[in-house]
Amino acid sequence: MDKFLWGGATASYQCEGAWDEDGKVESMWDRYLHDENLENGDVASDHYHRFEEDIRMMKEGGQNSYRFSLSWPRIIRNREGDVNEKGIAFYKKLLATCHEYGIEPFVTLYHWDLPQYWEDTGGWLDHGVCDAFAHFAKVCFDNFGDQVTYWTTFNEPKWFVVNGYFIGNYPPCLHDVQKTMIAAYNVMYASALGVKVFREGGYKGEIGVVHSYTPIDGVDDTIETQIAMRNADNYSNNWVLDTAVLGEFPIDLITRLSKDYDISFIKAEELRIIKKFTVDYIGLNYYARALVKPYTTGETQLIFNHTGKKGESKILIKNWFEQVKDPNSEFTQWDTEIYPKGLQDGLLKAYKKYNVPIYVTENGVGVREDVSVDQVNDDYRISFMNDHINALMNARDMGADIRGYYAWSSFDLYSWKNGHEKRYGLVAVDFKNGLVRKPKASYYWFKDVITSKGEII
Ligand code: BG6
Repeated sequence: MDKFLWGGATASYQCEGAWDEDGKVESMWDRYLHDENLENGDVASDHYHRFEEDIRMMKEGGQNSYRFSLSWPRIIRNREGDVNEKGIAFYKKLLATCHEYGIEPFVTLYHWDLPQYWEDTGGWLDHGVCDAFAHFAKVCFDNFGDQVTYWTTFNEPKWFVVNGYFIGNYPPCLHDVQKTMIAAYNVMYASALGVKVFREGGYKGEIGVVHSYTPIDGVDDTIETQIAMRNADNYSNNWVLDTAVLGEFPIDLITRLSKDYDISFIKAEELRIIKKFTVDYIGLNYYARALVKPYTTGETQLIFNHTGKKGESKILIKNWFEQVKDPNSEFTQWDTEIYPKGLQDGLLKAYKKYNVPIYVTENGVGVREDVSVDQVNDDYRISFMNDHINALMNARDMGADIRGYYAWSSFDLYSWKNGHEKRYGLVAVDFKNGLVRKPKASYYWFKDVITSKGEII
């Protein structure tokens, strides 16, 4: 267990705040949330000014790693690719602080905060953004390469592409299958370009992709259900993981889509880059599995719960599959199934299929909590994490090469579209009272788990 990484995760937009400070330019999320007058991350957890305190608390909590992302609009000022030296200086300080406290940084290049100057010309639909991402990646490798061993190209291509271009929940809020395909292709190509720059530059360390992993279960084992499961797996997982690890888009998915949509944006020479520059590891963010049944009737419906009032969500893709709720399962206030066994099954399945090291890069439960008390007694989070870490350890004992576990999130932060009251943190942040930090019971429990290297559970 020597090299096992234990920590928490965050993302730049969700925690840094300082949205227009020290030369940072606007991101697509700044523009969208300001324009729509929605709760935003202008201040968030103010990690930009308080990172030293946050990293010290990680150390005091027994953690040995911190997963976070770099803000592209804080680092690159414009479409020409000019560098903001103050942004570089900020991340150098943050990384130096990690090392000072013995915390291994696990760094994501892109966690959804695209610079608005790229969104202005179509964002992930503008093929030019792929080379711009490669340039941004190179600037990061050049500047931080001596401080970072673990790199991630993208956090959850599936989640931000599907929400942005198909479901319409996230900016640019489209409902367009053709555009979803183009954005998905551009993101996976940009990810391969990031790996190419990394390998050709001879930087040290490992580079991977992080995926929002939804292991698929079926309601029965009929052939119809198996077809629905394959459809759901292609929609949820395979187009990211097959492409990043095996270097190929799933052929049955491409064949099917090509019948109804134009796939001429796929270029042979770019497929060769995707094939050649595959990742060293995968990061899997696990929140829940999907239980599916064959499609029967009705139009596509993809409804996500952003209110915390149970029963609002629904996933049905016409002619593909329908997601159902297991009547025996427990669900969170935001309709997420609590199903630790899905993590064990999913890790075994992913390791068998891809045979690369795996890090569980996010796992946690979002809850409304009263943080005005001295200590939040989040026994539900302890029980959630305990059961999921057990599931991870089982998969590890059964032979899967699992090398880390990150709680989402290190401390309370902004949750996309849900605001600040859907809390995941090990440390409470009192957003209404000076952003005071107070460890929750789960923080101390996690410390005990790490100290005994997972053996007490
Ligand atoms: C993951 C993301 O999808 O889930 C995080 O990587 C996100 O950025 C987390 O915050 C929890 O989702 P939500 O919508 O509850 O904040």
